[in-house]
Amino acid sequence: MSTTPPNSSMPASVGASPRKQAPRKLHILHLEDVELDHELVVAHLRRGGVDPQIRRVDTESDFVTALDQTWDAVLSDYNLPGFSGLVALDLLRARDAVLPFILVSGEIGEDTAVAAMRNGASDYLLKSNLARLVPALLHAVEAGESRRARAAADDELARSRTRLSELAQHLQTSIEMERAAIAREIHDDVGGSLTAVKFDLAWIARNASEPAMAERARQALESVKHAVDASQRIMHNLRPAILEQGLIAALQWMAQRFEKRTNIVTLFRTSHEQLNLPTGVPLVAYRTAQEALTNISKHAGATRVRVDLTVAGGVLSLEISDNGRGLSPQDLAKARSFGIRGLHERAGTVGGWVDLSSTASGTTLILSIPLEDDPTGLKPDSCAEPAASPAPPGNGVHDPSRWGEL
Ligand SMILES: Nc1ncnc2c1ncn2[C@@H]1O[C@H](COP(=O)(O)OP(=O)(O)OP(=O)(O)O)[C@@H](O)[C@H]1O
Ligand SMILES: [Mg+2]
Repeated sequence: MSTTPPNSSMPASVGASPRKQAPRKLHILHLEDVELDHELVVAHLRRGGVDPQIRRVDTESDFVTALDQTWDAVLSDYNLPGFSGLVALDLLRARDAVLPFILVSGEIGEDTAVAAMRNGASDYLLKSNLARLVPALLHAVEAGESRRARAAADDELARSRTRLSELAQHLQTSIEMERAAIAREIHDDVGGSLTAVKFDLAWIARNASEPAMAERARQALESVKHAVDASQRIMHNLRPAILEQGLIAALQWMAQRFEKRTNIVTLFRTSHEQLNLPTGVPLVAYRTAQEALTNISKHAGATRVRVDLTVAGGVLSLEISDNGRGLSPQDLAKARSFGIRGLHERAGTVGGWVDLSSTASGTTLILSIPLEDDPTGLKPDSCAEPAASPAPPGNGVHDPSRWGEL
């Protein structure tokens, strides 16, 4: 092994560089057992305008040790005593997929050259024709640099996509928490006060000495009842209390209400009596169905909707399909449409995903959530009630302090 300093004297025949610009400094590892061949390579590099910081090695162990250093390229002989260029290539590629590797051999058959290129060599040259050495080397180095730059850009893009997705998921979770907090405040502050006022007005209406006062109190009582209904409706929109009765009951109720409101025939089917779902999953499924049904009423022009809930092979699937006009990739790319994008992120918060398929005869949206491997790592909750006769929200006994767990 020897190291040739970059400014060592050169053979007269290959003297000064014909190029005007400053020689390009390249760190080159040269696997070559013949010193003379090495010097010839160095001479060709200098003549071609390269300032080689070159190190020659001729054994496998020296080659492997040298790979710990940073190189711009590897030049390698094909046949070495006890070692070969192709083995060196394998060793290099196991550590670095991009570093340029050029086979420089006394004799190299077409098959060998093809095998080398297939295994990741950048180029191959014959020792008898080193005129191509510098162009081949510079080309390989540039290709390697642009591959590295592309890989770095791809990595950065992937990292930024991940960060964006994490942010979007965090926003979804924050929105739900904020909704729950507002719903709780309405329940505790507004709801509590309205109930107290209701009782007082009822008492006044009963005990008023003058009929006009009793009538006024009854009117005020009506207004307060409206306010109670409104606050319950707002609370429900903020946080679906029906989910306390289980996802099945909630979806059944949602489907019935949707059909009543839109006149679109809506069929909810599930083969399960009850489900024990991990925390977070019922709310994600509920919000997914809610957005899918809202989309159907807004965009699909459908006359029939099917909502199917199944759990098979440890995966919960919620499928909402309609017989409407279908949607196109352009629809999904609308700049100001966030519903379906939000569903993807929302599903991600519990380790699930959303698939969307569409034809001219309808759209199907499927939410899938693996259940065996609970991605939130939280214990299962008790959203496990029979599907029969869900009570409408607002008039059942419910405790909004539990809503954060849904
Ligand atoms: N079931 C459907 N049938 C036909 N088109 C649909 C359906 N669902 C969605 N689309 C189309 O896909 C687009 C994107 O839907 P998405 O829910 O993301 O946004 P949006 O409903 O327009 O707005 P928002 O952000 O309020 O949800 C819709 O604008 C609509 O053109
Ligand atoms: Mg929408």
